[in-house]
Amino acid sequence: MKPALDFQALFPEVKLIQDASLASRVEAVWQELWQMSDWDSIDSLAVSPEIRYPHLPHNRAVVEMALAVAASFERFHGVKVDRDALVAAGLLQDASKLVEYTITEGEMTLSALGRAYPHSFWAAHMALKHGVPEAICHIILTHSPQAATFPTSLEGKILYYVDQLDVLAIHGDRWRKQLMISK
Ligand SMILES: [Fe+2]
Repeated sequence: MKPALDFQALFPEVKLIQDASLASRVEAVWQELWQMSDWDSIDSLAVSPEIRYPHLPHNRAVVEMALAVAASFERFHGVKVDRDALVAAGLLQDASKLVEYTITEGEMTLSALGRAYPHSFWAAHMALKHGVPEAICHIILTHSPQAATFPTSLEGKILYYVDQLDVLAIHGDRWRKQLMISK
């Protein structure tokens, strides 16, 4: 067994979750996926094989930006955002990168699990196993553009957009404008 992750040091944002049991479930998901993973150092985990930028600062930036959006929604529009759900989902949505990727000869590649399952499936599976509410599991499963459906909750939509926004800072714009009529 590997030494456990120093989760609070890696993701100090977990302390912003008011519900202590939810915060400990978030950490438990990361710790279990960490033990399942091939990684010796979490610092080596990149955003993806295409985006060779460390995952940790990306993940933390997404959570911090989501909170900033929530603060503006509340301050200017009186729109309430569930911050516990926002932070918990933001911390969990990419946790399964630990098992979706492996490192071979210094190269980050898809693992057997990463080839067999869609991105974030294992994060959502572990989250359910550890008693994370279903609404947060839904955000985890729908957070990526490759997901079959779009997040239904406000918290999920905020995370979806800020995740893409952060990619603009660390990689570049992946989106192009397409003219179409849709409802
Ligand atoms: Fe992701």
